[in-house]
Amino acid sequence: MTTRRSFLAAAATGAGAMALPGAVRADVPPGGAQGKVPLLRLNNGVPMPALGFGTYNIKQGAAEAVNTALGAGYRLVDTAAFYGNEEQVGQGIARSGIPRRELFVTTKLWIADYGYDEALRAFDVSLGKLGLDTVDLYLLHYPTPSNFEGTLAAYRAMERLLAEGRVKAIGVSNFQPDHLQRLIERSKVVPAVNQVELHPYMSQRAVREANARHGVLTEAWSPLGGIFANHPKDPKAVVRVLDDPRIGEVARRVGKSPAQVVLRWHLQSGVAAVVKSVHPERIAENIDVFRFELSREDMAALDAFDAGLRGGGDPETFDMNLIRARARK
Ligand SMILES: NC(=O)c1ccc[n+]([C@@H]2O[C@H](COP(=O)([O-])OP(=O)(O)OC[C@H]3O[C@@H](n4cnc5c(N)ncnc54)[C@H](OP(=O)(O)O)[C@@H]3O)[C@@H](O)[C@H]2O)c1
Repeated sequence: MTTRRSFLAAAATGAGAMALPGAVRADVPPGGAQGKVPLLRLNNGVPMPALGFGTYNIKQGAAEAVNTALGAGYRLVDTAAFYGNEEQVGQGIARSGIPRRELFVTTKLWIADYGYDEALRAFDVSLGKLGLDTVDLYLLHYPTPSNFEGTLAAYRAMERLLAEGRVKAIGVSNFQPDHLQRLIERSKVVPAVNQVELHPYMSQRAVREANARHGVLTEAWSPLGGIFANHPKDPKAVVRVLDDPRIGEVARRVGKSPAQVVLRWHLQSGVAAVVKSVHPERIAENIDVFRFELSREDMAALDAFDAGLRGGGDPETFDMNLIRARARK
């Protein structure tokens, strides 16, 4: 069992990895600055930092942002073919000078490239843009229920990439419990990760429970609720999770920022997270979350903010038809 003291000691020194409830404990000794972020062990034994740097909506400044994040101690970088920035992300990684083996790079297969051969081709393109030989985690970006056979074929291609050692782990994103169940029934490799929209207004309890049942690590995208500003459903009334006075009150009490409180809530909930900022001071603030702990009461308070409020695409209906229809508008 992890006591408060052993947790804080491990997190502060980087000696050993954090035992998150619901996640498999990792005991990989981190090296160098990697020690800033505890490591989790995925279901295939691969270690993954519990907190990473997200790059959605950063194009021009992506190389600089990634380089800044790596300098601040992040070792996981999250990108996707869809973000259109894999090249810049690769440049940021190269610029940092940090040995490749210390880094954990995630990219995602876009839904337009679902299908077996299409997926293999798209992977080569991503790898070329990133300027890397391997990717640590390769994810299916969305389940696309309207083309689930294509989704499964793409996953089989990812299983091949895994067997060939070109990726260290494979997983999914935005999968609801029934998508996950159907994929697992018809494939060989249980996904290592399911990356889903997860923030205090959408805590994804059912998805987290299904992931845990299958040994799949839940990773939060938009952990601060940034998606509401990226694609506001009503531009005049953008939802701002970090401005919630209830989070502000917890933040004042523990002497941390609202973002730090929210990120801490993720980590103590057994969820990994990828967080994005283009501002160096926020990049540093967001990784400084391993030297304090939220009380049981504060965790329960944040759990209670769940409103099932989704900012991103609905996994049930998100497919290429929807994208094309949006583009025609
Ligand atoms: N799998 C998927 O379908 C999917 C979908 C969306 C995102 N993602 C991944 O998840 C990552 C994170 O999600 P996200 O970028 O949507 O949102 P996020 O990380 O929850 O929030 C980012 C937003 O919050 C602001 N911010 C960051 N740190 C802050 C701080 N300390 N105080 C106040 N504001 C702060 C950022 O502004 P500034 O940049 O101006 O600081 C940005 O507007 C993405 O970058 C991407 O890698 C995955």
